[in-house]
Amino acid sequence: MTINNFTFYNPTRILFGKGQIESIDRSIPKDAKVLITYGGGSIKKFGTFDKIVTALGERQWDEFGGIEPNPYFETLMKAVKKIKEEGFDFILAAGGGSVIDGTKFIAAAAAFEGDPIDIFSAGIGQGLPIKKALPFGTILTLPATSSEMNAGGVITIKEKNAKVSFGSVHTYPQFSVLDPELTYTLPQRQLANGISDTFVHILENYLNQPVGAILQDGWSETALKGLIQLAPQLKEDNHDYDVRSNFMWICTNGLNGFMSQGLPTDWSTHKLGHEITAFNHTDHARTLTPIILATMEVRWEEKFAKLVQYAENVWNIHEGSDQEKAQAAIQATRKFFQSINMPVTLEEIDVEAKDIDYLVDQLIAHEFTEIGEHKTQTPEVSRAIYEKALN
Ligand code: NZQ
Ligand code: ZN
Repeated sequence: MTINNFTFYNPTRILFGKGQIESIDRSIPKDAKVLITYGGGSIKKFGTFDKIVTALGERQWDEFGGIEPNPYFETLMKAVKKIKEEGFDFILAAGGGSVIDGTKFIAAAAAFEGDPIDIFSAGIGQGLPIKKALPFGTILTLPATSSEMNAGGVITIKEKNAKVSFGSVHTYPQFSVLDPELTYTLPQRQLANGISDTFVHILENYLNQPVGAILQDGWSETALKGLIQLAPQLKEDNHDYDVRSNFMWICTNGLNGFMSQGLPTDWSTHKLGHEITAFNHTDHARTLTPIILATMEVRWEEKFAKLVQYAENVWNIHEGSDQEKAQAAIQATRKFFQSINMPVTLEEIDVEAKDIDYLVDQLIAHEFTEIGEHKTQTPEVSRAIYEKALN
């Protein structure tokens, strides 16, 4: 195996640091009519909304709130209707991954010729290409998904009980404000979700067959070690600016494309996790931690060489045989998740043995029948992973 060809492009401008909301003034056209999109109201409660309005100055603006976690297609289409009726030129998303993903969809759907459901594939729509989108920027309040610096989004289609992704070169944010101080209001649960989601993003790209990618592997290992170091410091009431800065920047880099160029990448853990969220609304990150641990065990042979590298370079495990090192790395990962109160079994997130048939049927319905870096994860393997993860 060697490093694959790649074409890499990431146009998102990052505005990092204290008070950077002010600088959106220079990044949005002066004559733009702006739609501010947000979620359940945290940005109003904590004063971010007022700062945005001040920064917009004389521009015309309106708002669309109520984008829920794991955003619903049905909600987002209301924003699309508003844009079509009232005419906006720019969208400004303020929130976490759900608001940003939802905004990417709104931006694409508002400019889409045809029925926006066809933006999705995976047995939902026709998977037609996005040819244009309204320009948008983001103000990130929850480091986790990296949606602020990538082109992908994940949307829940309520009617079909499905959570599916989409993406296009047109759905990169034009800019993203990353002000670590905006994370001070995050509850412990969301901090742990952010650490774990990022940890798993990196593992989805890293824990595959080695291809000798020095920079990508080193970058991943440093970021994983960084998360392990930061986790005990990321307490709800710890407003340490440097801790929050490192946390925010590692999360953004977890899935902005830099670490994964040229590598075989897996993403099966996310697919299995999305089915669980669609099934019982578990937070995204809390579906991933049990599944990735079970994946390491069930797909042990495919992951083995990289598990040994992970043991040595991330967990500093040098004693014993390669088998023992790889096992010790899995145990260390389990303990790490437990140390931040993340689930390590499906039972902890209310998935029982009797639910597995349904979850596997949903994977098949969404055409996820040959997944993973080498497309070896068939429904039978996915079933074995769900079963292994149960308790
Ligand atoms: O809605 P509000 O009131 O803003 O409250 C949110 C929400 O309840 C709250 N929150 C956000 N910032 C806060 C805050 N509370 C206090 N202080 C703040 N500063 O946190 C709650 C969860 O927010 P959400 O946006 O749902 O969380 P997250 O950022 O983890 O996003 C999860 C979504 O992103 C998708 C997931 O599937 C899920 O739908 N993902 C997107 C990816 C991408 N675009 O690349 C990749 C990821 O793997 C993931 O799939
Ligand atoms: Zn994720």
